[in-house]
Amino acid sequence: MIQLSIVSYTLLAALAALVVALAIDVFRRRRLQTKQALLIGQDELPEAPGPRSWPLIGSMHLLGGYEVPYAAFTDLAKRYGPVINLHLGNQKCLVVNGLNNIKEVLIAKGAHFDGRPNFARFHQLFCGDKENSLAFCDWSELQKTRREMLRAHTFPQSFSARFSHLDSFVAEEMHDLTARLDATAGASTAIKPELIHACANIFSAYFCSKKFDRHDAAFNHTLDIFDSIFYEVNQGCAADFLPWLLPFHSKQMAQMKQWSHEIRQFMETHIINDRLTRRRQGLVSQEESGDYIEALLEHVESQQKEKLLTLDSAMFALEDIVGGHSAVANLLVKALGFVASRPEVQERVKAEADLVTGNGARPLTLQDRPVMPYTDAVILEAIRMISSPIVPHVANQDSSIAGYKIEKDTLIFLNNHELNTSDKLWDEPSKFKPERFLSTGRLIKPEHFLPFGVGRRSCMGYKMVQFLSFSILGTLLQKYRLEPEQDYKVPVGDLALPKDTFKFKFIAH
Ligand code: HEM
Repeated sequence: MIQLSIVSYTLLAALAALVVALAIDVFRRRRLQTKQALLIGQDELPEAPGPRSWPLIGSMHLLGGYEVPYAAFTDLAKRYGPVINLHLGNQKCLVVNGLNNIKEVLIAKGAHFDGRPNFARFHQLFCGDKENSLAFCDWSELQKTRREMLRAHTFPQSFSARFSHLDSFVAEEMHDLTARLDATAGASTAIKPELIHACANIFSAYFCSKKFDRHDAAFNHTLDIFDSIFYEVNQGCAADFLPWLLPFHSKQMAQMKQWSHEIRQFMETHIINDRLTRRRQGLVSQEESGDYIEALLEHVESQQKEKLLTLDSAMFALEDIVGGHSAVANLLVKALGFVASRPEVQERVKAEADLVTGNGARPLTLQDRPVMPYTDAVILEAIRMISSPIVPHVANQDSSIAGYKIEKDTLIFLNNHELNTSDKLWDEPSKFKPERFLSTGRLIKPEHFLPFGVGRRSCMGYKMVQFLSFSILGTLLQKYRLEPEQDYKVPVGDLALPKDTFKFKFIAH
């Protein structure tokens, strides 16, 4: 009996093993077949439609004549559909319209489309190698590390020590800025240099534990350079796509090289050399020990085998992040531009700030943000109206979007301008209406509003933007009534403003 059951168990086990082996074989065959089918499917996918391409220029001529270059993509979509093949010079490009298609690029197939364009200008700005840049490099382990290292600093947790440091640096700068604005006694004021200095000092204090005087000539010169670079990278340039035009841009290229050299000199002389010396002497203060410079230097000087950053690449990362102040300052000047001619918006921000601070009995802080949704809504509305483009992506492999075949190295334009301005998505999109971001007294962000991108290449600075613009706009509108100095139209389509731009009167309440 026992012997019989041993035999039957052995037989059963052998049978089971056979079944499992067969199942594995079937599974393997199926997987191979699916892979082959996918490969065949990829090849069989159609190419996206698009306009005719001319020798040398491709379809470059179709982008001319628009106030906002991305508006051309919306017009092309009316003719060819949401996904369009476009040759710019000899660069194969794809224009992607519509939320679902954009999400397919950035999220569902984010790993296929995480590269960035290979423009000569970007190489010039980063000492001949765009891989030194946080925003213009291709995806790599180095970029992954740089993003991970940044997270704790650019996304400080509410109520953390870093968060309250940031809050106090903003408060100090606002104290100095409002003192200077008080001194203007309502006279016409060029606010851009003031905001650039305030934002730069907040960034420098927060990331580098170092502040500079309003009249520090070397600092001010460096801020001019940072802002010129910001302006430069925000402008389209035909030579990006038509490299045979590059010889005509040789002066501009030399200028960019010089700018990056001067920034490095300033950072070394005024920030990093002193820190390196004091690190070796064990003289880094407690406040400094938690800043971004320390995180970078700890990584660079660590004995880990897998460390990816050198001192040189760490310096580029630091310069890139400190340079982010220019984005915030330019945004704020434009936001003030929108509200200067809208006293009712100014009054609502002031009312919110007065309520929370007991009519200005204490300064505004970052902790007040959750109960001042209208102020945040004003900033979101300014960002929507400006509609700065998502940095173009590049396909790192053959792939597909919306059922169309995409070749490796195709440059992908994501038309967020259409997402920000379509009357199918927004009520009266051409009007400045902050209340569109509010529902029952709470801040809401529609799914189709993606000003900072999304996915693995999304903006690393968006919280700094939200924090600083909330505090600065809230404080200014609580203390002053703003009047435009002359007629102007806030330029839209990108964030950057020229150095000399519109002026306002700041009339104290
Ligand atoms: C209103 C101001 C800003 C806007 C509208 C903005 C928007 C964007 C967008 C659309 C991208 C590309 C996202 C993508 O490709 O999917 C981006 C990337 C980036 N932003 Fe911002 N940004 C702003 C300010 C800042 C600031 C202040 C900083 C630094 C503190 C910053 C740091 C970065 C970095 C490092 C990247 C590159 C990320 C990567 O490629 O991996 N940004 N930003």
